[in-house]
Amino acid sequence: MALLPFAWVRGLASLLYPLRMLVAHGWLRESDIDAGLKLLHPALRLNRVFAQVTQRQWVADDMLELTLQANGNWYGAQPGQHLQLYLERDGVRLSRSYSLTAVQPKGRVQIAVKHQAAGRVSPYLLEHLEVGDVLELGPVYGELSWPEAQQGVLLLAAGSGITPLLGMLRAALAQGFSAPITLLHYVREQGQRGFVAELQALQAQHSNLQVRWSLTAAGAEPGALTGRFAGEHLTEVTQLDQRRVLACGPAGFVAQVQQWWQAASLPGALQVEAFTTPVLRADVSLREVRLGFTRSHQQATANNQLSLLEQAEAHGLQPVHGCRQGICASCTCTLLSGTVRDLRSGALFSEPGQPIRLCVSAPHSDVEIDL
Ligand code: FES
Repeated sequence: MALLPFAWVRGLASLLYPLRMLVAHGWLRESDIDAGLKLLHPALRLNRVFAQVTQRQWVADDMLELTLQANGNWYGAQPGQHLQLYLERDGVRLSRSYSLTAVQPKGRVQIAVKHQAAGRVSPYLLEHLEVGDVLELGPVYGELSWPEAQQGVLLLAAGSGITPLLGMLRAALAQGFSAPITLLHYVREQGQRGFVAELQALQAQHSNLQVRWSLTAAGAEPGALTGRFAGEHLTEVTQLDQRRVLACGPAGFVAQVQQWWQAASLPGALQVEAFTTPVLRADVSLREVRLGFTRSHQQATANNQLSLLEQAEAHGLQPVHGCRQGICASCTCTLLSGTVRDLRSGALFSEPGQPIRLCVSAPHSDVEIDL
């Protein structure tokens, strides 16, 4: 039980400055101080960012929006970025990144969590996390950005790809963005359309916003769009050639958008972000390789198919990581010898000293890495 109310936790951050100085000079250990602080409140820490859950709200049949209030160590973020989240289950530290659907002043943020049957973090957040619980927050990352000029915007989302785009859309409309915006969201079924009531209300309130959904697996109402992304779905989008296009979703969806974009030869800008881990290329036959983790003094038998991150974890190592999709760079490690293959492009890299991202690199030969 907390000895202090959470309302005090943010205010205490600045008062902890003398303790930070003592830690910086090596006179105290941060872990010892944190052990005492968390007795006062589970979200109180010297430097680490913890947040309390203040609201849970279902925004689709399979998607929950969580409102989090961070402690005073929160570093800020931009709408559209992703936030790394940590929790401990049965003594194991788990981590997963979620898109920020809102970034508000004083450390109040919202994230959306989609049900993933195979995941360990998302099912826990959906089924067991309660208002008042505390989570640790990690770094934020993500490059999607809203245009600074009043230029038309086309938002293309598939599945949970709606979440970073919604974060940017909410912020832009709140700041008075008045150029035309079209949001097209692809989902399998009607009940997976996220934030419907809010988007319809925004559409009624802002004449420059048009929202459409396309159902990819079930019948739609007359006049509604159906099927996967296709250029024909954009016939109603005015001034398409002047729009900034932002697309987010699974890798296959993003690849379709990129192909359409190249074929259409549009002069504007395209920004994309893929959510899913790259699909293994079928043209590389399975081989056994040796992995050397130099700093850990470990050698292991591995294969040339799975990522170095997965294979290091399978051998008991715990490399630092974030998105597991090649985006955040937190798993970057130095290649010491051998050849690795980029799982996204198939490109080979063999220069010793080269930084590689473990989550999207597979060994192509025997490999030594600085891990
Ligand atoms: S974990 Fe994010 S780039 Fe590898």
